[in-house]
Amino acid sequence: MLQQVYKLILLSPFLISAACKSQQLGGKPFLQNAISYNFKDADAQYKVMMKNLPDDKFPKTFQNDTLRTSNSGWWCSGFYPGSLLYIYEQIKDAALYDEAKRMLGLLEKEQFNTATHDLGFMMYCSFGNALRLDPNNEAYKQILINSAKSLASRFNPKVGCIKSWDSKPSDFLVIIDNMMNLELLFWATKATGDSSFYKIAVTHANTTMKNHFRNDYSSYHVVNYDPETGAVQQKKTAQGAADNSAWARGQAWGLYGYTVMYRETKDKKYLEQANHIAHFILANPNLPSDKIPYWDFDAPGIPNAPRDASSAAIIASALLELSTCSKENAGNYVSVAKTIISNLSKPEYKAAIGTNGGFILKHSVGSLPAKSEVDVPLTYGDYYFLEAMTRYKELAVQ
Ligand code: GLY
Repeated sequence: MLQQVYKLILLSPFLISAACKSQQLGGKPFLQNAISYNFKDADAQYKVMMKNLPDDKFPKTFQNDTLRTSNSGWWCSGFYPGSLLYIYEQIKDAALYDEAKRMLGLLEKEQFNTATHDLGFMMYCSFGNALRLDPNNEAYKQILINSAKSLASRFNPKVGCIKSWDSKPSDFLVIIDNMMNLELLFWATKATGDSSFYKIAVTHANTTMKNHFRNDYSSYHVVNYDPETGAVQQKKTAQGAADNSAWARGQAWGLYGYTVMYRETKDKKYLEQANHIAHFILANPNLPSDKIPYWDFDAPGIPNAPRDASSAAIIASALLELSTCSKENAGNYVSVAKTIISNLSKPEYKAAIGTNGGFILKHSVGSLPAKSEVDVPLTYGDYYFLEAMTRYKELAVQ
């Protein structure tokens, strides 16, 4: 439906000027109206996804006309139920809530998975949202507490970090993405009164602030510590263009992660860090004017390098929260978030209903160096787009 609106706008100079003058469409501010259409379209799309999805699988991407899926242990398994819950929250379509609960049943066993650092993504984006909508659900609370315990089991006090990827015994690999898993630990301290989760989160964030960031506040993807001494052994990339490049999603994870750190601790150093990261992203000469980043800020072949819609969605969601903590930058942050949401709402990025395997967004990049998931839909692109739109509606910014 929104696509028809955009087509109309493109076809009619009169409508363009009318829309620009009044910023109104159908009696509502333009972006709020677009967001309402986006949620309705998302409801329709996720019903397509539901139909295509094998009973015991989680969606990953859609490539070569095929829905690619995973089991519950894949790091993205929480995003599909989380997205269903965000759509349900706006549209109140019970079919989506039922599907979310069915998926939570499949995901539940991961609460005891100690072989991954991704439990924040997997469990907090899913069960965290489920608990938000059903705050007295004791079963969800217990699952989240167990998940936080599993995540905390990967903390090494000598290093001061949670281990991201298992590797050989002399390695201790930490990736910037891991900042996203800390929110679960803050929740666990509030839920249990046990401050050890909080302390692990703060220690991890401080160690990462010290070692992952360059002078310009861009971040390395991977830091390899000595697990015995905590010394840094290497700074490198896995999913970026080069060890010294600024992989777009890594910058987005850092921005979002330090914004959460400030929300949860009110320690100003995290707010400053988030503002510095935002400045690196927003002032970057390689950020296109539509604010949808290339997959790496230093990607070879810019301006013909693939874009990453997932990074854009994460940045929009983070900036909307950060705008509420940073008065002097609020105008700019909201303006960029609006540009991103508005551009992701256009047919260039938003799939027509019935296409794209049921995913909402096109054009994300999983891992270009591994030639995996390049220029495809990804579950986290959809999830953070839905979250950004939810946040925008809540802020009622225009
Ligand atoms: N490793 C998570 C990501 O691709 O962002």
